[in-house]
Amino acid sequence: MQIITTKSELQAAVKACKIANKTIGLVPTMGALHAGHASLVRRAVNENNVCFVSVFVNPTQFNNKEDLAKYPRNIQRDAELLESIGADFIFAPTPEEMYSEEEMNSTFAFDFAGLDQVMEGKMRPGHFNGVVQVVSRLFYLVQPDKAYFGEKDFQQLAIIHHMVERSSMAGTFGNLQIIDCPIVREESGLALSSRNERLSKQEKETALAISKTLFASLEWAKEAGATVAHVQQRVIDTINAVEGLEVEYYDIVDQSTLLPTDSFNHAIGCVTVYCGPVRLIDNIKYN
Ligand code: PAF
Repeated sequence: MQIITTKSELQAAVKACKIANKTIGLVPTMGALHAGHASLVRRAVNENNVCFVSVFVNPTQFNNKEDLAKYPRNIQRDAELLESIGADFIFAPTPEEMYSEEEMNSTFAFDFAGLDQVMEGKMRPGHFNGVVQVVSRLFYLVQPDKAYFGEKDFQQLAIIHHMVERSSMAGTFGNLQIIDCPIVREESGLALSSRNERLSKQEKETALAISKTLFASLEWAKEAGATVAHVQQRVIDTINAVEGLEVEYYDIVDQSTLLPTDSFNHAIGCVTVYCGPVRLIDNIKYN
């Protein structure tokens, strides 16, 4: 496995793969890797000749400086994990290598067709502009055949699909396929997240109520006369009743449009909860 820190080295490595007719899998990450990332990388290793993993805490997708500063970083540990799984290249650039000063300080413009107006996009203005900025740059540099993303960030995934569909019309990303990978949970049900590292032992216990409530809501949705609005409110009330948890939003939306829906058909519930100072997200599909 090789660790690359510059765009020119990366492009040279990609060129060598293309010349040798090797298929490329890409797993974009912000590091602080856990078993969820490992499952993405394992898939990328199995389904492609060569696997690239980017490890880059992308400053342009953080709208909160403190969150950016506190985001866990441990490239040494990440590299050991990636080597053990069989990744071939890690791309770990500095922000200055990735962006010009102008790019770093302006908002990347993109037509989201409204997908950024709800949930995370509403709460974190500009967040998805930064995500699309970095992901499109990684696609451009790595030219992958397949790129792997976790369903925990469901809205991010919907936006990346939209981005690829739009730009493939212009042939920008060739035949790139986006691979949706299911949420990986601890045995307790807690969705794996790099942010879990910031939870105390007690907070981690408290956070279990989030996934427990989401799973319970699958049953609530089956109760006679259950409506989306009632289930939505019941999830919010149940989580808020737990000391130490505060729901920012729980929206049940259509899985494709991300717009509010009054049917459980093709619906997904997406939640954001503050557990002490740590902002956690999770989701559940109703069918
Ligand atoms: O999901 C993430 O970790 C990030 O948003 C991504 C896709 C690596 C872009 O920085």
